[in-house]
Amino acid sequence: MTTAAPPPPDLEPVTPHGGRPLPPARTRFGRWLQRRVPVDLEALRYYSNEPVPNHLKHWWWCLGGTPAMLFTVQAATGILLSFYYVPDPSQAYESVRRVSEVVPFGWFLRSIHRWSSNLMIAAVILHMMRVFFTGAYRKPRELNWMIGIGLLGTTFFFGFTGYSLVYEQLSYWGATVAGNLTEAVPLIGTYLARLLRGGEMIGDNTLTRFFILHIGILPALITALLAGHILLFRLHGVTEFEFESARLRGPEEKKTFPFFPDHVMTELIIGIGLAFLLTCLAVIFPAGLAEKANPLLTPAHIKPEWYFFWTFRWLKLTGLTLAVLSIGFFGFLALVWPFIDQAIRRRRPASEISVKIGLAAVCALLVLTVWEAVATH
Ligand code: HEM
Repeated sequence: MTTAAPPPPDLEPVTPHGGRPLPPARTRFGRWLQRRVPVDLEALRYYSNEPVPNHLKHWWWCLGGTPAMLFTVQAATGILLSFYYVPDPSQAYESVRRVSEVVPFGWFLRSIHRWSSNLMIAAVILHMMRVFFTGAYRKPRELNWMIGIGLLGTTFFFGFTGYSLVYEQLSYWGATVAGNLTEAVPLIGTYLARLLRGGEMIGDNTLTRFFILHIGILPALITALLAGHILLFRLHGVTEFEFESARLRGPEEKKTFPFFPDHVMTELIIGIGLAFLLTCLAVIFPAGLAEKANPLLTPAHIKPEWYFFWTFRWLKLTGLTLAVLSIGFFGFLALVWPFIDQAIRRRRPASEISVKIGLAAVCALLVLTVWEAVATH
């Protein structure tokens, strides 16, 4: 009886520690690499090239990639800006002025960073609306929606700490309003506000803390949330929708297309479009520098960045405590909406009440935003 010759050492199956033997890689180099990095290359090949539903061929369906790309622009331009920025009230404004007026292409870098922050917030809002109005947060994607709400909050906080670093009148008084709002949070408000300000009042420590938040804590937080976000939608796959047009094209119609190179190409084209748009915005509307912060002079009317207009108008309509409580309540509702929607649909299966409530919320936010934009006080 002849026993089979053992496979040449190169073809011996690789077993990761505590794992199962891996199918051998196809190439000699692949097998060499697998021996040194025992990962399942087949699984890696599958997970890096999963089939993508046809509707993601249209950019408005794959909006999630846009804030991810803009975040990388923010990271790259932000690192370069931090080479010149000084997080100290006596030097911050001057260091930003030097970037805009002295450092070669500093004005362009700063303008890209500022426009990209505005586009990132707009893209996150549009992506969230796409997900909400298509019901793509429903089971089993509730957790990804909740991570998404974390991403939304972090992106807004990025914007707030970012414009506070310039140390213009808006930065100083905007931070003062934010401190007062934080203080009005029940139970933990006083402590949170002290943590944010670095003391009882806006002072030297405040700018340092905003700087550490903006370049350290928030980037780490958004990266962790994004990793969880991407892992979950990769494990679930993106929600597949049945479109009339596809149904008419019949069952033989392929419902998916490959992630690489097709979907990567779509994102690449969106990326080139974004780069072109950012360059045009930065050159035509470069970031300016308003009046330097003056703690002794309260401006007649503080106008925050556009994405906080609704907050300021709501604050003026309701007062500090009611504004904080209601914004907290609506934020919590948004966080757990997938479960509220599920409870509604358990009673009324075909109900699209979520869409109606969503439309009402969007209209309310738009009215508050436009109202604050046109208001003179
Ligand atoms: C920095 C911010 C964000 C980034 C970079 C991001 C990225 C992505 C990407 C790339 C996808 C894949 C499908 C697509 O492109 O639509 C996705 C899906 C998803 N996102 Fe986001 N997202 C962000 C914020 C949010 C927010 C604010 C929410 C909701 C509150 C959210 C909820 C979801 C859900 C539920 C899915 C699964 C959708 C489906 O299966 O069709 N994301 N996200």
